[in-house]
Amino acid sequence: MLFAANIVALVLSFGSNGVFASPFPRQACAVKSQRKAWESLNDTEKKAYINADLCLMEAPPMTGVPGAQSVWDELQYTHAAQADYVHNVGAFLPFHRYYVTLHQTLLSTVCGYTGPLPYWNEPLNVGALDKASIFDPETAFGGDGSGSSRCITDGPFANITLRI
Ligand SMILES: *[C@@H]1O[C@H](CO)[C@@H](O)[C@H](O)[C@H]1NC(C)=O
Ligand SMILES: *[C@@H]1O[C@H](CO)[C@@H](O)[C@H](O)[C@H]1NC(C)=O
Repeated sequence: MLFAANIVALVLSFGSNGVFASPFPRQACAVKSQRKAWESLNDTEKKAYINADLCLMEAPPMTGVPGAQSVWDELQYTHAAQADYVHNVGAFLPFHRYYVTLHQTLLSTVCGYTGPLPYWNEPLNVGALDKASIFDPETAFGGDGSGSSRCITDGPFANITLRI
């Protein structure tokens, strides 16, 4: 499966010298997809995006990553396992661009998501980040946890278990 191969390739794409080498040949972009600010999506689009992420959290794992019980866990693994090598280095941007593209590819191929990949236009919320619309429990992601455990208590990700 191409997406499983993508995850493995992403994990393997850093040599022992920490240099990022794309595992894929360079090719022209057939379709340009546009990322959209979360704030510019309507409620139907927001729900479709969140449902697709919830779908990845339910989707059975494909790669044999130890402890992973979903495609979401595997996606997290590719970041967690390489966190020491992909931050504060020149490969930061290429790695993360590729990582976000992998996320989008999985949303589409595993969960049939066809909408845009949203981003948080954080400057809109300067001075009141906690009031940002992305934390709305009805139309967005819900809160970022409460109490000493920081468990998520509201919104679509309430009580979520992260394994990686
Ligand atoms: C939300 O946006 C999509 C994409 O532009 C559009 O097709 C849809 O009709 C909109 N829905 C509502 C309820 O505005
Ligand atoms: C989360 O789990 C706790 C403990 O099992 C439970 O009391 C609570 O109702 C759950 N909350 C939601 C929103 O599912």
